[in-house]
Amino acid sequence: MRKKIVAGNWKMNTTVPEGVELAKAVCEKAAAVPENIGLIVATPFTHLASVGSVLTGRVELSAQNCADHTSGAYTGEISVAMLKSTGCKWTILGHSERRQYYGETDEKLVEKTKLALEAGLGVILCVGENLEEREAGKHFDVCTAQIKNVLYNFTAEDMKNIIVAYEPVWAIGTGKTATSAQAEEIHACIRKVLADKFGAQVAEDTTILYGGSCKPSNAKELFAQPDIDGGLIGGAALKADDFIQIAMSY
Ligand code: PGA
Repeated sequence: MRKKIVAGNWKMNTTVPEGVELAKAVCEKAAAVPENIGLIVATPFTHLASVGSVLTGRVELSAQNCADHTSGAYTGEISVAMLKSTGCKWTILGHSERRQYYGETDEKLVEKTKLALEAGLGVILCVGENLEEREAGKHFDVCTAQIKNVLYNFTAEDMKNIIVAYEPVWAIGTGKTATSAQAEEIHACIRKVLADKFGAQVAEDTTILYGGSCKPSNAKELFAQPDIDGGLIGGAALKADDFIQIAMSY
C-alpha cells in the first residue's frame, strides 16, 4: 500500500536558528499525527545539519535540490554525498521555481535523480503546468511529458524511492488552490502514465502529493481524493501548527 506523506518545503525562508526552532516545534507537535502519515521537512542546504540534529526520527529530512555532478569544480553546488552526510533522506527535484528561474530541464533532472537514487536518497519529483498551459488545455500533456521525460528512464525498483508531487504553477504561493476535482484528475492521469511504463502495481504503490496553496482549510477535501496521497506544503509549512494541522487532515 502506498504511503501517505505530508512534506514541508521551506524554500528560501528562515535563518538557521529560526529553522531549528521550527523543526523542534514540528517534532513536538508531530506526536499528534497518526503513525501512518509520513512527515518530511525540506530545508535550505545551510540548515540541513543543524535541523537534522534536532529531528526525532518521526520527521525526515529533505533537501530542495542537488547537484548534477558527484564532486569537483562546481562552485556553489551541493552534491548528493554531501546531502547524505547531513542525515538527509530525501531531495525535492524539479520544483517549478527551479525549472522557471534556474533553467532546470528534464534532462538535468534525469541526471540528478540518478545520482540521488545511487546515493540512497529518495526523490520527490515535482511536475505541473503553468497558467498559460492550463488555459490552453495542455495540462494533461505537460504533466505526462514531464513524467515520461524523467521517470521513464528509471526502473520499477527505482520507483520505490520516488515520490511524485503535482504542483500546478498557477496555484503555488498564489492562494489559488486547484479544486479537489482538478487535482484528482491530474493525479489519476499521472498514475496511469506510471502504470503504462511500470505496471499497475507500481503505479498503485507510488505516493503522489498535491502542492499549491494547500492549507489547513482545504487539505481535508484534497486528501479525500482517491489519488491524492498527501501534500507538498510551502507557505503553510513555515508555521508548525498549520503544517501539523494539514498532516492531521486525513
Ligand atoms: P505553497 O507552495 O504551498 O506556498 O503554494 C507549495 C510548493 O511550491 O511546494
